[in-house]
Amino acid sequence: MRISVLGTGYLGATLAAGLAQLGFDVVGVDTDKTKIKSLSEGDVPFYEPGMEEVLRTSLASGRLRFSTELAEAAEGAEVHFICVGTPQRRGENAADLRYVDGLVDSLAPLLRRDCLVVGKSTVPVGTAARLASRLRELAPAGAGVHLAWNPEFLREGFAVADTLHPDRIVVGVADPADEAVLREVYAAPLAEGTPWVATDLATAELVKVAANAFLATKISFINAMAELCEATGADVVALADALGHDQRIGRRFLNAGLGFGGGCLPKDIRAFIARAGELGADEALSFLKEVDAINLRRRERVVELARAEVGGDLHGVRVGVLGAAFKPDSDDIRDSPALTVAGQLQLQGATVNVYDPKAMDNARQLFPTLGYADSALAACRDADIVLHLTEWREFRDLDPARLGEVVSCRRVLDARNTLDPLAWRAAGWTYRGLGRP
Ligand code: UGA
Repeated sequence: MRISVLGTGYLGATLAAGLAQLGFDVVGVDTDKTKIKSLSEGDVPFYEPGMEEVLRTSLASGRLRFSTELAEAAEGAEVHFICVGTPQRRGENAADLRYVDGLVDSLAPLLRRDCLVVGKSTVPVGTAARLASRLRELAPAGAGVHLAWNPEFLREGFAVADTLHPDRIVVGVADPADEAVLREVYAAPLAEGTPWVATDLATAELVKVAANAFLATKISFINAMAELCEATGADVVALADALGHDQRIGRRFLNAGLGFGGGCLPKDIRAFIARAGELGADEALSFLKEVDAINLRRRERVVELARAEVGGDLHGVRVGVLGAAFKPDSDDIRDSPALTVAGQLQLQGATVNVYDPKAMDNARQLFPTLGYADSALAACRDADIVLHLTEWREFRDLDPARLGEVVSCRRVLDARNTLDPLAWRAAGWTYRGLGRP
């Protein structure tokens, strides 16, 4: 089966390489020439553990190639995956669908034979039905062009494993024949026993945003508990551990701290709220506004705490910042809580030095005025306070005694609650976690 993957960002590049690994003949298409050149040469344009190996073996097998020519891709493929981004609209909560719409409008006139177009991008519910009629209207093959929706749940940092061994496969189809085609595409994970949920288009679109909204809610729930812990002197980490033993609740995504960021959770809950409004169901999702507010409050809280820790005034204070990526094992800095905090501290007069194991180049581009250092030790040299903002393993493994030798004051604010308070205190540090006594 020949497959085209349209859009080679995080999602598309990983999917293209993964499908080739599974034995399909795949072409990945993108308008970004630099990205296509880099992928064609086996260089992954972002940091993702394990991705380079899959990309290189797939290219070497001859089953994977990349192109900027949509027409060439459209020609031979029986299945086309839509993997372009749906960012937040500037100044609004709603999703910006220009890339999805633009792609469908360019692709449709090229579809001269029966094929299946499969949406993977995260879209507002109702988009798939609209795109299905647009395809029928514009494609020379007309009703022979079918549309299915197959949301993606991959996590950055685990993208390869999530693509090759997903925890579930959800397909929204309007015709049972389309489900059969998708079963063929996913034959390998199905053989491993991956749960398969076939449903209608609208439900499939909703599954994705509902999942992200649930995860965001879980994080904001525990962060709200952290606020209460701070007010009462309780410990949110012990609280989360205790809650997590209840199988119905579960411990995952109950890590209180600086909150969620990235290119998905924040914009997805906002687009979901906006879509509910358009559908006249605002009330159903009004709680998500609170989820967003709790989350954004975490960033303010960390800035406030840092200021309080250094005596109420950040002017002239030297801050060592550990972490810039929105989460560990990623170089993604989109809506990164770490960089929001670093930027705020600088605005309030502090001299900020940032170190991140992988996100330095991206961070420098977005926040060129922050100071950057090439190691944790260098970022913390002469610091009056150290802020731990992204929980890389490298930071957990730091020797607090060694770091203590380079700082000007042994004061650490652990905004991810993953450093060992006992070890840091034993090395003479004033340790402060979030929602912890
Ligand atoms: C998220 C979802 O987890 C994926 O299932 C989904 O496919 C993806 O969005 C998407 O829509 O494409 P991702 O953005 O890679 O994946 O990141 P997550 O692992 O969900 O983490 C999101 C944020 O929550 C990070 O900033 C992380 O630091 C934060 N987080 C996570 C917490 O603050 N506490 C936790 O307990 C867990």
